Amino acid sequence: MKIYLGIDLGTTGLKAVLVKPDGEIAAVGYREYPVLVPSPGYAEQDPRDWWRALVEALGDAMRESGTAPGDICSIGFSGQMHGTVLLDDAGEILTPAIIWCDQRSVSEVELVKNTLGTEKLGELTQNPISTGFQLASLLWVKTHRPELYEKIGKVLLPKDYLRYRLTGEYGSEPTDACSTLLLDCRERSWSVEILSTFDIKPAILPQLGKTPMEVAGLLTQKAAGELGLCPGIPVVYGGGDQPMQAIGNGILNPGDASVTLGTGGQVFVPSAAPSYDPALRTHTFCHGPEDLWYVMGATLNCCLAQNWFFDKVLGDRNFAELHRRAAEVPVGANGVIFLPYLTGERTPHMNPMAKGMFFGLTLGHDREVMSRAVVEGISYALRDAMATIENQNIPVNRIFLSGGGAKSPLWRQILADMLGRPAYTTTMREEAGVGAAICAMVGSGEYATLDQACETLVRVKEEPVLPREEMTAFYREGLEAFRAIYRANEALFR
Ligand code: XUL
Repeated sequence: MKIYLGIDLGTTGLKAVLVKPDGEIAAVGYREYPVLVPSPGYAEQDPRDWWRALVEALGDAMRESGTAPGDICSIGFSGQMHGTVLLDDAGEILTPAIIWCDQRSVSEVELVKNTLGTEKLGELTQNPISTGFQLASLLWVKTHRPELYEKIGKVLLPKDYLRYRLTGEYGSEPTDACSTLLLDCRERSWSVEILSTFDIKPAILPQLGKTPMEVAGLLTQKAAGELGLCPGIPVVYGGGDQPMQAIGNGILNPGDASVTLGTGGQVFVPSAAPSYDPALRTHTFCHGPEDLWYVMGATLNCCLAQNWFFDKVLGDRNFAELHRRAAEVPVGANGVIFLPYLTGERTPHMNPMAKGMFFGLTLGHDREVMSRAVVEGISYALRDAMATIENQNIPVNRIFLSGGGAKSPLWRQILADMLGRPAYTTTMREEAGVGAAICAMVGSGEYATLDQACETLVRVKEEPVLPREEMTAFYREGLEAFRAIYRANEALFR
């Protein structure tokens, strides 16, 4: 049996996804680990927990599927992006990893913005900077833990640490390195100007491979022993979780867009050129193929806001039934509009102070109306993110919905209507882990290119949800009202 291993290093846990060459998932092993919060706003993880999770999750998946060590042909990764793993000169961990949702580096984000200004930051990195991004975390360590900073031999992204444990080689690649804000995404190389401006030694950064599909090294004897695998298996670079998830959904062509309804929501659109939003409201990051980028609008409150309302406010966890009843409420939720910004917002507002609110309540409204308003409000936020991308003249023809929220027929119809395009879903599961395994397949020659692999492996459900013209027109006006409510309250959110 031929098996490819996709390692999906997430924020709450790690999945070891065993995939057959035809895309069928043989087994998935899963282990969780904690996010450590030693002070308010901090978010850390112990990289040794990731390793333990890998050993255990892989062991489970191999046992469950009856996979023999000799069956594994190659290994790929999908990793939580932006984070910071610090190693000393001997490759030992200096301190817990500072992960993407860490918020301690507010002053460092301001420092970067004030030193460079929006125009220069865009020119050098094509991206806005947020707390938790490696550049900001590294500058925080430099200022607040100078004795630690002095000891840094290498700084790695999370999944690059795991690959280092597998191969003994330091390395990264553009799809994840772009998320550090130390990379010039247009050139796909470390930005000499960013490094010199912030006095960061280039020697602490790993060498860059060209793509996630390239072989980065071979599994060492030691790692093979710990994992129960055969030494010498090719290990490819792998990539950041967003592009790997897109690959697992076959989103590789300009014109196709994915909308992911997870804890946060992402609108992801491949682009043949590394163009970026001059106001830096969206991200422009590197996609898998060397000549492809993507523009991403990230919203913070997708299922997070829905779950808050259903679970915390209504005290009801029967989400399918809540959606079914909300679907009986007319489009527009009888005039109620919900702003979902419970934890601030990234695209398009880049405003951590933004807040959630219900607008337009009367005695005639009930929980069903408010439920529908919540789903519509989250969808308006995604529509707004899509509009910010379209304003950059990036074409969007087909929409692919994924993530937990895409299981709801109500949500699929609202998004098809609001986005005004057919909304497709794929039959794929474990998209990020499968994307990582697809990179391993291409890297070891099972398929010649990513396109060829995705054409063979990714199945699109034939019937998309079609937009209804009248509803699209209705929601176009609704979006203007949604935006007006934000604008009218923006100053009060502070
Ligand atoms: C991307 C992002 C997430 C993280 C965590 O910008 O914030 O995808 O990689 O999964």
